[in-house]
Amino acid sequence: MQDRINRIIEEVEQFRPSDREQVEAFRVKYLGRKGILADLFAEMKTLQADQKKAFGQLVNHLKTVAEARLEEFNSHFESDGDNRIPDGMDLSLPGYPLAKGSRHPVSLTRKKILDIFQRIGFVVADGPEIEDDWHNFTALNFPENHPARDMQDTFFIRQDEGGNSIALRTHTSSVQIRVLEHTRPPVRILAPGRVYRNEAISARAHCFFHQVEGFHIDKNVSFADMKQTLLYFAREMFGSEAGIRLRPSYFPFTEPSAEMDVSCNICGGKGCNVCKHTGWLEIMGCGMVDPNVLQNCGISPDEFSGYAFGMGIERIAMLLYNVKDLRLFSENDVRFLSQFSREQ
Ligand code: DAH
Repeated sequence: MQDRINRIIEEVEQFRPSDREQVEAFRVKYLGRKGILADLFAEMKTLQADQKKAFGQLVNHLKTVAEARLEEFNSHFESDGDNRIPDGMDLSLPGYPLAKGSRHPVSLTRKKILDIFQRIGFVVADGPEIEDDWHNFTALNFPENHPARDMQDTFFIRQDEGGNSIALRTHTSSVQIRVLEHTRPPVRILAPGRVYRNEAISARAHCFFHQVEGFHIDKNVSFADMKQTLLYFAREMFGSEAGIRLRPSYFPFTEPSAEMDVSCNICGGKGCNVCKHTGWLEIMGCGMVDPNVLQNCGISPDEFSGYAFGMGIERIAMLLYNVKDLRLFSENDVRFLSQFSREQ
């Protein structure tokens, strides 16, 4: 007798309805007025007192199991295809807001830089991130085995068939060569992109970052043209009060070369922590394109001249948004990124 009930319990536990009808059939079969449980309770009444207790306990257990299963089936099929509105649900309430994405501060800053130069006739060009020695170094007047190559710690990838090294580009200046090999001046080009350097990652340096390169080559382009263009850029970017200063510097691909500082937009030039109390912030390298570079691209330096400049996008973004740690730009922490959601 106990075995019989245990078998029924097992049956109930293993039952898997595939639709509502089978759930209803289950209810009728086990819990219905003429169902198995009703029969068992009727049977119990006929038993001797000493058997009643054990029988009653088993039947009650069966009842609990069957009811629990029925409830489980009901809730499963209710959520699965039942279109009735559950009690207490107010369909007129507003939905949950969807979190909107926002532009990355590096993208925002790149766009600001490009917009400013595009307004005065510069156009955007592109180049590969995996570059050969010629475009990244040699054509840019970095002599073979010259210490100038050590200025930029390079990620080398492999050598090509001719024994020339292939590397991740260390700067966007390589796009100068890419463009000038195929385009006759006059050209006014901007080349934004990612660059790579084998450097220890810290708050001030990263193994990859972004630059915008710019250059203008035409007849009679002078250092004064460069100065005026870069002053215009500084004022558009940092405000009409911004001033610039050019300090002599060295790059193999420009002669003369300079580093450009902009007056500190935080303290207005009085001196603060951001500008390390100098009143000035370094924002880019620039200079007159070296005649050797023009020659390497088949352009006569006697006929044409021009200037070039290159700036780090993260560096400008740090100044614009007062960001203290370069690593924030590549960590994808939404607590950082969501702060730019109002920017366009
Ligand atoms: N390529 C330089 C760098 O990555 C930046 C630079 C300096 C670009 C001077 C220029 C330039 O075009 O004229 O450090």
